[in-house]
Amino acid sequence: MANDKKLIIANWKMNLNMHEASLYLHKLSKLIKTHRNVEVVLAPTTLTLQSLSLQMNLKQFKLAAQNFYWRDFGPYTGEISASQLRGIIQYALVGHSERRHIFNENNKDIRNKVAAAIRNNIRPILCIGETAWEHASGETKDVLHDQLMGGLANITSEELEQVVIAYEPVWAISAGKDSTPINVIPADVEMAVNAVRSQIKHLFGEKAAENIQVLYGGSVTPDSVADYLALPGVNGLLVGGASLNANTFNGIIEKAHKNSTVAKKD
Ligand code: 13P
Repeated sequence: MANDKKLIIANWKMNLNMHEASLYLHKLSKLIKTHRNVEVVLAPTTLTLQSLSLQMNLKQFKLAAQNFYWRDFGPYTGEISASQLRGIIQYALVGHSERRHIFNENNKDIRNKVAAAIRNNIRPILCIGETAWEHASGETKDVLHDQLMGGLANITSEELEQVVIAYEPVWAISAGKDSTPINVIPADVEMAVNAVRSQIKHLFGEKAAENIQVLYGGSVTPDSVADYLALPGVNGLLVGGASLNANTFNGIIEKAHKNSTVAKKD
């Protein structure tokens, strides 16, 4: 695999105000050890992106937007574009299940966003995953296939090198900070991640399938980090609820460091 760095991403969703976000960053930057085998990315609300970008050290963290609109500018009240975020963020989530299911984003919106991120020098993290009903009906592979085809339809093999895929089964996403984590069997994650790579191979070839970074997300806690990162095709984690506490998130980063295949030199 070309990139053995584990990507650990905190998706704060619609939590933490400006003050709380700044305190969190201050705390985490004191706790965190920089590891060559782990890249840490914070995805706060749009409101705090700029102030955190000024406060943070890019050697410690990178920043991601949780959402943006795909056009670069124009009469789109209430929206913010990837071109406006350019230079502030390095990554952006695209097609998170909460965007797909609560805000009705479809594959066309999502593929436009993937392309907009790439043309603005931002790495898109394309989120895909099946619902509980699709899972129970044995449709996981078909859903992943459809979401990958839909989300990646506008890009070239060269552009794919900028893309990260996050597999998040919708039914495994926790309801928030204090809810009980849902246990997803690592073998099921492995099967889904293999399906992702085989679809990438079909669309973009073997090398692309080997090199693309694929993350897992859904109820990740410090206790489950090792199980998921031990899976051969999993290059990192997308963490929601457990990322809202700086100590807990730092615990996840440390576990990722210890369980990464390139832990030798640190
Ligand atoms: P939880 O870790 O709270 O289940 O959220 C996962 C998620 O949606 C991250 O994007």
